[in-house]
Amino acid sequence: MNPETYLVTGGAGFIGSHLVEHLVRRGAAVRVVDNFVTGNRNNLAGLEAVELIEGDLADAEVARRSVAGVAYVLHQAAIPSVPRSVEDPLTSHRANIDATLQLLIAARDAGVRRVVYAASSSAYGDTPTLPKVETMATAPRSPYALQKLVGEQYAELFTKLYGLETASIRYFNVFGPRQDPESPYSGVIARFITALIRGARPTIYGDGEQTRDFTYIDNVVTGVLAACKAPRVCGTVMNLATGDRVSLNMLLDRLCAIVGVDIKPVCEPARPGDVRDSLADCTLARKLLGYTPSVSLDEGLRRTVEWYRRSSSAER
Ligand code: UD1
Repeated sequence: MNPETYLVTGGAGFIGSHLVEHLVRRGAAVRVVDNFVTGNRNNLAGLEAVELIEGDLADAEVARRSVAGVAYVLHQAAIPSVPRSVEDPLTSHRANIDATLQLLIAARDAGVRRVVYAASSSAYGDTPTLPKVETMATAPRSPYALQKLVGEQYAELFTKLYGLETASIRYFNVFGPRQDPESPYSGVIARFITALIRGARPTIYGDGEQTRDFTYIDNVVTGVLAACKAPRVCGTVMNLATGDRVSLNMLLDRLCAIVGVDIKPVCEPARPGDVRDSLADCTLARKLLGYTPSVSLDEGLRRTVEWYRRSSSAER
């Protein structure tokens, strides 16, 4: 087995493709498995050295083929949307739980060295205490939140039961270049920026006073890659975020300033399953991974606006 062989599940997606890009740059051998339900082939442009398996990880045979000869698995494949899971819990369940279980079984049987699992801050739910610490009780409010929580618990169980090394990273509202802005389920930053660039009014669900700890993609990549090799992380769950909280109203003001427009939002009712406030305590990731967020929220927003500007002018 090549010790530097990685499988990125969901590698054609937003977060997955950034991991792939960084790994290729480091000289690692990378395989991607993606079913292109939310992934996009364009995200792998320029990364032709990557081996691509097109298939659904909930299929045991696809999972087996994907992990063969691999040292590290970065499990990013998911249907990553709260509202989509509320509307169609069964499809989300298959993508977020069945596929994860098949992958863990295949990784165990193939002797994979470590699986790093993309968990979600949504597991904390709507409890009032901030910041969120990993020791707090979980309280999922949507099928998506529950499914992501089950995935991390499966990962932990596979470590305890079968000795498969796993680590779960709870992402907090990740944003950056290549995040798909077009779906109604897309992340809010991608939707706000693309609306402002087009001169359109973005939609705010609820009063806009809900808060999030938005995390720029490069910070996530640093943390996830550190989790592959860190010595004391097996069977653990760690938050990974910026540690900075903004409301959607504040976010929109900052984006208007960066884009150079003054556009008022359209207001619609709050979405079911939505969490009010979110902020991470990143002490554990700092201790176990040496993690510090190197890109601030404002710097991340500037880089992201710049990327959407370039890609929208390339389309014209
Ligand atoms: C949640 C999880 C996050 C996960 C993501 C996957 C929490 C705290 N976070 O993100 O970890 O990765 O699901 O999708 O649970 N909104 C608007 N206008 C829009 C779009 C969204 O106002 O056009 C609002 C939403 O109602 C929400 C906030 O913006 O209040 C953020 O929404 P979104 O970007 O979809 O992410 P979360 O649901 O917070």
